[in-house]
Amino acid sequence: MEIKNIVVIGAGAMGNGIAQTAAVAGYQVTMTDIVPEAIERGKASIAKSVEKFANKGIIDQTQKDAALNIATSLHMDPARGADLVIEAATENQELKLELFTELSRLTPRETILASNTSSISITKIGAVTDHPDKVIGMHFFNPVPLMTLLEVVRGLATSDKTRDAVFEVGRVMGKEPVEAKDSPGFISNRILCPMINEAIFALQEGIGTREAIDTVMKLGMNHPMGPLTLADLIGLDVVLSVLEVLHRDLGEDKYRPAPLLRKMVDAGYLGRKTGRGFYEYGK
Ligand code: 3HC
Repeated sequence: MEIKNIVVIGAGAMGNGIAQTAAVAGYQVTMTDIVPEAIERGKASIAKSVEKFANKGIIDQTQKDAALNIATSLHMDPARGADLVIEAATENQELKLELFTELSRLTPRETILASNTSSISITKIGAVTDHPDKVIGMHFFNPVPLMTLLEVVRGLATSDKTRDAVFEVGRVMGKEPVEAKDSPGFISNRILCPMINEAIFALQEGIGTREAIDTVMKLGMNHPMGPLTLADLIGLDVVLSVLEVLHRDLGEDKYRPAPLLRKMVDAGYLGRKTGRGFYEYGK
């Protein structure tokens, strides 16, 4: 089945990045969110990003216009006419299960239902729908327009056809799709989040300052960002939620979230999105 029409659920950093990249690639895109301000912020972020790409000649006027004219909605009804729905709502299992129950009711059997979840089981998400063969993980990376990886996660019931269709969409969007098993954290967060957690333990134990820890990983390992700066970009609530899934589902102490991480999330220091995380960002 040819994918033409994509609906993205959620207008946050991941949702608006996915919507922008899909529109620039030529898909008909609708971005939905239940919060009107989130839609406005999402549109502003898309406008800023495509301006940069257009100024550098990376995209042309038609692609820029496509991204600027993405349709928006405050409810999920547009999913009725979608070939592919990509859910990028808050990383909360209960919420995602509710959304997929509703999406299963709204969409025809042929619609592919993808989740951008960073750690929740695709098999579990598929099980609340009446077509789990069409449910798959499409895990994008922040900032979506710049990061080339697409981690494709197959649930137990996901069909080869669904996997092939999603690989094709990923490639058209300029991404390099890589397949991972449906296991807690998949490949990416199974490796990344424990590294970030260890950096937080190092900070908590006073082994180095935030700058020292980040500089070691930047200059010593050639990471583009230090782990604490990266945690601020991802969102400390997201990092905590991934670690909780790893700790609970894999059952090993090595995944125990650092107490400092919990404390910062409790304080509302979630990183760039709240203006404060391991670093301060102003308003
Ligand atoms: N759209 C368009 N252009 C953008 C942009 C955007 N959204 N964001 C940044 N840029 C541009 C900047 O304007 C800049 O352009 P210039 O060189 O012409 O000035 C260029 O990209 C480089 O940006 P910066 O100078 O701000 O900074 P960097 O050179 O460090 O690059 C980065 C930024 C690509 C984000 C790089 O730091 C990086 O790769 N960081 C690691 C990001 C990462 O690991 N992401 C994955 C997170 S994990 C995840 O998302 C999964 C989840 O499940 C947890």
